[in-house]
Order: sequence, then structure tokens, then C-alpha cells
Amino acid sequence: MKTKTGTNIDEVISLLNCAKIVAIPTETVYGLAANGLNEEAIQKIFKAKKRPLSNPLILHFKDVMDLTKYVKNLPEPAEILANRFWPGPLTLLLEKSELIPDVVNSGKSRIAVRIPSHEMTLTLLKKLNFPIAAPSANLYGRISPTKAEHVIHQLDGIIPYVLNGGKCENGIESTIVGFEDNLPVIYRLGAITLEEIESCLNVKVKIHNHNIKSEGPDSSGMVKFHYAPRTPIYDIDEMDTNEDSEHVGYIGFDKLNRSIPVENQFLLSDEADLKIASKNLYHSLHYMDQKNFKKIYICKFPLMGLGLSMNDRITKAIAKFRT
Ligand code: TXA
Ligand code: MG
Repeated sequence: MKTKTGTNIDEVISLLNCAKIVAIPTETVYGLAANGLNEEAIQKIFKAKKRPLSNPLILHFKDVMDLTKYVKNLPEPAEILANRFWPGPLTLLLEKSELIPDVVNSGKSRIAVRIPSHEMTLTLLKKLNFPIAAPSANLYGRISPTKAEHVIHQLDGIIPYVLNGGKCENGIESTIVGFEDNLPVIYRLGAITLEEIESCLNVKVKIHNHNIKSEGPDSSGMVKFHYAPRTPIYDIDEMDTNEDSEHVGYIGFDKLNRSIPVENQFLLSDEADLKIASKNLYHSLHYMDQKNFKKIYICKFPLMGLGLSMNDRITKAIAKFRT
């Protein structure tokens, strides 16, 4: 199959209407999209990504009105978060209605839903009469794409079309929030910070304990390793002072590392701005992964705001090379 990259929304609509899968831009990362009500189309997502069927997908809607048909209810804190952050990088876990095929959310009782803010994808959603099911458009366990080229690198020849919406604004996945006894719980840290959720609801918010499995297998954002490059990646604090640094790369926040050649380094934000760093994080991993280094070292971020979300992804990438 030849994979085209372009900006033709009508072409994407025709493909989705005949149960094909296409990559679409969102403000977080690129998604691998299918008709969210069509089982055959959804199966193709799992196959293309090599993702286990036990790992549920997110459904994307054009607005809250449209979404309410597909969920049983909207708890009060969910409504407050929705009003504040949608359209935008927030995903809510809500009780699903019978309209959604089980394959979308692996037969769980809750469905992950969000309203993305990327203009191209909102335009697309408004022209469709079904929601879009879309996980990140990467192979299972690998780095999420934040540019059309990143999608091509992993899925060339596997999907017919990549809708090119430029570099993703946030560069890190949406924050996933569920509710237990009407209290919010964060299932995945992401582009909206823990502090923003807490100040919006005026409560302390728990982060889901990933060891407690309430409904079968944990979700991919929760497994121990994920988001990993092929080149082994380690925490910079683990670098041996005697190590030959010629063939190692370094991804840093705002400061170069004196032990590694400057040309082997990628700084995420000269100004130490967490928003800019998070926009560049996955791009830096894709970029460094193509450099054929023996190893990549990476820094850790301040334990606040987007720093927490980025540390979560980095920890999971590093964990792959500890086994
Ligand atoms: O920013 C995003 O959320 C991107 C864009 C494309 O929207 N999508 C994304 O999807 O990151 P994905 O499939 O790569 O990650 C979704 C995460 C997975 O870890 C999945 O297991 C979890 O959400 N998830 C989905 N439904 C769930 C449910 N019912 N209960 C618990 N976790 C769920
Ligand atoms: Mg993903």
C-alpha cells in the first residue's frame, strides 16, 4: 500500500467512510483514526499498531452534545472539567452506552472520551456522522508521533493516508481522568497538569495506583514500559564518568552536559520552559533514535506541572532497558 501525506479532509472522509484507517493530527500527538462505531475498522487499528485487543481506545467527538449520546451520565466534576478544558487535551473515563461496540474499549464498562482542539480534526469531526476512535499513531510500545514524518517513519505502507496538520502544539498525550465516588482520579498524566485539574475542581486529586487492577489488564499508558526509542535510553545520572561519550546522545532540558560532545546533544528549551520542552520531547526522541548512537541519556524534569507528565513518559521509556 502506498501511504499519501496531505491536507485533503474530503479524502480522509471517503477513507473513513469505507472502514479504512488514517492518521490525523491532534493538539497532543497524531492519532490513528477509524470510524468509532465500525468494528471492522477498529480491528484494523489494533492490527496496524500491533496493539493487544485488551487495550482500550479513546473516542473523539466534535462537541459535548454529540458525546452525551454515547455515555450514561456526566458526573458533576466531569462536567466542570469538560467546560474548562474542552476542546483540548483532556480525556474523561465515563460509563459507556450500548451504542459503542465492545471492541473499542475492550469490553470495559467505561469509555475514554475527548474533544480535541486541533482545527483540522475538529473540521473533520464536524463532517462525520460518527465519533473517531484513535490511539496514538505509533507502533505499540514505541514513541508517539508529533509530526506527520514521525507517523510515516513507523507506519509507511501500512495506512493509506496521513492528514498533515503540522507539529502538534502540546506534544504529549492528553491527561486521563476517571471518577471514583464522584472524586477525580488521574489515570495518565499528560498535557493538562495535575495542578490545573486540582485548581479547577478545588480538590486534591489522586493519581491512580497502577498496581491495582480493577478491570482486567492495565492500559498501555499504565504499563511499566512504553514510549521507547529503539536505542537504549538511560537517566543521565547513571552515566559513568569514565564512559567514552563519543557515541552517546543526550537530551537535556536547558543546559548542555559537559561530558558529552555538543553535536550529540538536543536541548528541549533554552529558556527552561516546560511547555516548550514538552512540545519537543517526542520529537527529540525520534530524532536521536535515528542518529545510531550506542545509548541515549536523558535528563529528569522538575517535579511539578508538565515536568511530572514528562518524567512519567521518560521513566517508562527507560524501564524497557532495565529488564
Ligand atoms: O492525546 C491523546 O490522548 C492521544 C490522541 C490521539 O487523542 N491518544 C492516545 O491514545 O494517547 P492511546 O490509545 O495511545 O492512549 C490511551 C490510553 C491507553 O493507555 C489506554 O489503555 C487508556 O488510555 N484507556 C482507554 N480507555 C480506557 C479505559 N476505559 N480505562 C482505562 N484506561 C483506558
Ligand atoms: Mg499511545
